[in-house]
Amino acid sequence: MNEKTNHANVEEMDFDQLFKQISPEEIGDNVFTLVGKVFPVLTAGKEDHYNSMISSGGGFGLLFMKPATWCILRADRYTLELVQKEQTYTLSYFPNEYKKQILFLGSKSGRDSEKMKEVELTSVQTPSGDMSFKEARLIIECKLTALTTPNPDDFCAREARDSINEAYKEANVYRKFVFGEITHVWIKK
Ligand SMILES: Cc1cc2nc3c(=O)[nH]c(=O)nc-3n(C[C@H](O)[C@H](O)[C@H](O)COP(=O)(O)O)c2cc1C
Repeated sequence: MNEKTNHANVEEMDFDQLFKQISPEEIGDNVFTLVGKVFPVLTAGKEDHYNSMISSGGGFGLLFMKPATWCILRADRYTLELVQKEQTYTLSYFPNEYKKQILFLGSKSGRDSEKMKEVELTSVQTPSGDMSFKEARLIIECKLTALTTPNPDDFCAREARDSINEAYKEANVYRKFVFGEITHVWIKK
């Protein structure tokens, strides 16, 4: 972001002023940093109703010859319900200074709270109508390709099988693997 662009005027700027489109190949971040070391915010829904959560697992790759992302979500996440409804979502990455605001999105469910009204971030609509935040430094827009339920019996490594089973015991629902085709990538100007 330009030195002159401070927090105050970010809120007043529109999407085109803040972001420019790049190709997936131009993403400069190390992919392991993007999944393991920062807190990606997954947002689904449209301007009139959207919801966000932190989704820290997953990865990037080619799926059916298209650039894609994948995430592992507990089946009862409210954000997942909106992913299924709208079939699109964004993954947003923020500068470290927004850690507190981001952690808030992972602290309670939007199903039974007003967390999207309470969060200290400024929502913004992408040109395709998906939702993200003006404070993000990188936004990856995805179209849902597949939502699969992992079967513990299909996992050969004991730790992986145990992890799937443990999650089930905890929540009485399986994790879902969410695969999405990358449709747009935006970075801060
Ligand atoms: C650091 C961190 C990482 C998280 N990663 C995941 C994840 O990969 N998958 C998941 O289902 N939940 C994950 N969560 C939990 C959700 O973000 C959290 O339960 C959230 O409140 C769900 O919100 P929702 O029900 O409004 O969608 C994570 C939480 C934190 C704090």
